[in-house]
Amino acid sequence: MGDFLSFTGRHVFVAGGSSGINLGIAQAFARAGAQVTVMSRSPDKVQQAADGLKALGAEALGISADVRDPAAVEAALRQAHAQFGDIDVLISGAAGNFIAPAAELSPNGFRTVVDIDLNGTFHVLRLAYPMLKKPGASIINISAPQGVNPTMYQVHACAAKAGIDMMTRVLAMEWGEAGVRVNAIAPGPIADTEGMRRLAPSPEALRRATETVPLQRMGTLDDVANAALFLASAQAGYITGVVLPVDGGAALPGGRDMRSSYTPREAA
Ligand code: NAP
Ligand code: COA
Repeated sequence: MGDFLSFTGRHVFVAGGSSGINLGIAQAFARAGAQVTVMSRSPDKVQQAADGLKALGAEALGISADVRDPAAVEAALRQAHAQFGDIDVLISGAAGNFIAPAAELSPNGFRTVVDIDLNGTFHVLRLAYPMLKKPGASIINISAPQGVNPTMYQVHACAAKAGIDMMTRVLAMEWGEAGVRVNAIAPGPIADTEGMRRLAPSPEALRRATETVPLQRMGTLDDVANAALFLASAQAGYITGVVLPVDGGAALPGGRDMRSSYTPREAA
């Protein structure tokens, strides 16, 4: 298996990497030997995240920048590039979300989420492109089930994540000849995250979010991080343009649950 899941000496840049799922991914790469840069808005959060990565034995850098500000993103990428060199793995996962009925969502509310998730992902990928290791770099966008499942009160996130899914496919085509792979992960409901605190804020909402998951549990930070390690590894070297659900089967097509209508033939 060679260096399966070893990233010793590789530079991993995680946009939105200071908490939750993206920090879990940053930590997994740190444990796998990478030099890791995390970028997000809060200077305190990025510093704390970088300190945590160093405590895992990694070389790490925390940089404050808003993905909506291309100049700030470019400056952050340049700083990381000066410190750790070409980027081997680029994770784009900055996002904002809240529950809001479309009829009550202000233009700025819609724009804000699209700006962070979709436009922010374009800025991160486009501005990182000259600094990517070519050939060999792997990009992983963090999408969501909303990218394919129409979800009420989520018109902003659905539009943004669907755009990210399509951007993943288009850039996989454009950047393939440079030896750059572009994939996405669409996590299902992941326990102990800000996303779930916002979208399932009560025990009842949490129960409903889990009951339709075929594997009958919420996901963990490690579930997502392990998928990211695989997608970034040489073993996934022929995989590009994929949006990979990591969701216990939750994205499988729905339809009516026939179990309560079923009578075994011998009892009929
Ligand atoms: P989270 O902890 O709030 O992570 C969001 C990260 O993005 C934070 O590090 C945040 O740090 C950063 N961020 C937000 N706005 C930013 C901006 N404008 N510029 C730069 N960085 C920004 O939430 P999470 O639940 O772990 O979600 C992480 C990713 O997973 C998101 O892409 C989300 O859509 C996706 N996801 C989550 C779930 C789930 O179950 N939680 C399910 C499916 C998909 P700052 O506040 O410092 O900026
Ligand atoms: N319902 C409806 N509209 C909302 C809202 C809510 N719960 N929260 C914010 N908005 C609207 C605001 O009213 C504002 O629109 P307005 O100017 O017309 O009033 C617009 O969204 C921007 O809000 P603001 O607070 O200025 O944005 P921000 O850039 O400071 O923060 C958010 C961005 C709103 C997405 C904020 O929740 C955030 O920073 N989230 C990051 C963490 C996160 O969401 N994690 C989960 C990821 S899945």
